[in-house]
Amino acid sequence: MTQRRMVRNFTDEPLVPNQARNLINLARSSPRAGNTEGIRYSLLEGENVETYWNITLNENARESFPWPGLLNAPTLIIVWVNPKSYLQRYSEDDKKETGLGEDEKNWSTPYWWVDGGMAAMSILIAAESDNLGSLFFGIFNHENSLKREYSIPTEYKAIGTIALGHPAKHQRASKSTSRERATLEELIF
Ligand SMILES: Cc1cc2nc3c(=O)[nH]c(=O)nc-3n(C[C@H](O)[C@H](O)[C@H](O)COP(=O)(O)O)c2cc1C
Repeated sequence: MTQRRMVRNFTDEPLVPNQARNLINLARSSPRAGNTEGIRYSLLEGENVETYWNITLNENARESFPWPGLLNAPTLIIVWVNPKSYLQRYSEDDKKETGLGEDEKNWSTPYWWVDGGMAAMSILIAAESDNLGSLFFGIFNHENSLKREYSIPTEYKAIGTIALGHPAKHQRASKSTSRERATLEELIF
C-alpha cells in the first residue's frame, strides 16, 4: 500500500490478454452498501482509448498537457455508478425503514460514491500486485460525451477513470503529489 503511487507516464507495452478484465473481476468482491449491484465499468483498449483522449483532451489542450506519457497507457477503465440501484435496494423489505429508498436527497452519505471509490481502489491495489502502474483521474465536464460515445445508460454517473499500464522510467510529480502527507498523530482525532 505504501508502495502505491499514481503513475502519469507509461510505456506503450500492452497489458497481457484478460489482465484488465481480471482486475475488474477482483473489484467484484469490493464492499458495497446493502450488497447493491450498482457499479459498472467501461474497459477501453486500442481504438477506444484513442477515442477517449480525442473526446477529453482536444488538440490545443494536448499541446500544453503536462503528462503526455499518460496517453501511452494501453488500457483505461471508467467506473460508473447507478444511484437508482441504491434507491431500489434500500426500498426492499430489510432496508425500507431507513427511508433511503425514497429519494437521493435522504442520503447524508450517498453510498454510490463510496462504493464507486471502493471499487476503484480495489482496481488500483490489484494493479499494484500485478506490477502495473495506475492513475485514478477525473472526467470533469466530459461525462456526457463519454456516455454518448460508449452507450452508457443515462442513469449512470461517472466516478472517474483509471489508466493502467507499465510505468515509464521517469515520473513527473503533479503539484498535488508533492504535498507532504500528515503524520499519524495529526490524523487521529
Ligand atoms: C478522487 C480523486 C481524483 C483525482 N483526480 C486526479 C486527476 O484528475 N488528475 C491527476 O493527475 N491525479 C488525480 N488524482 C490523484 C491524486 O492527485 C493523488 O492520489 C495524490 O496527489 C496523492 O498521490 P499518490 O496517490 O501518488 O500518493 C486523483 C485522486 C483521487 C482520489
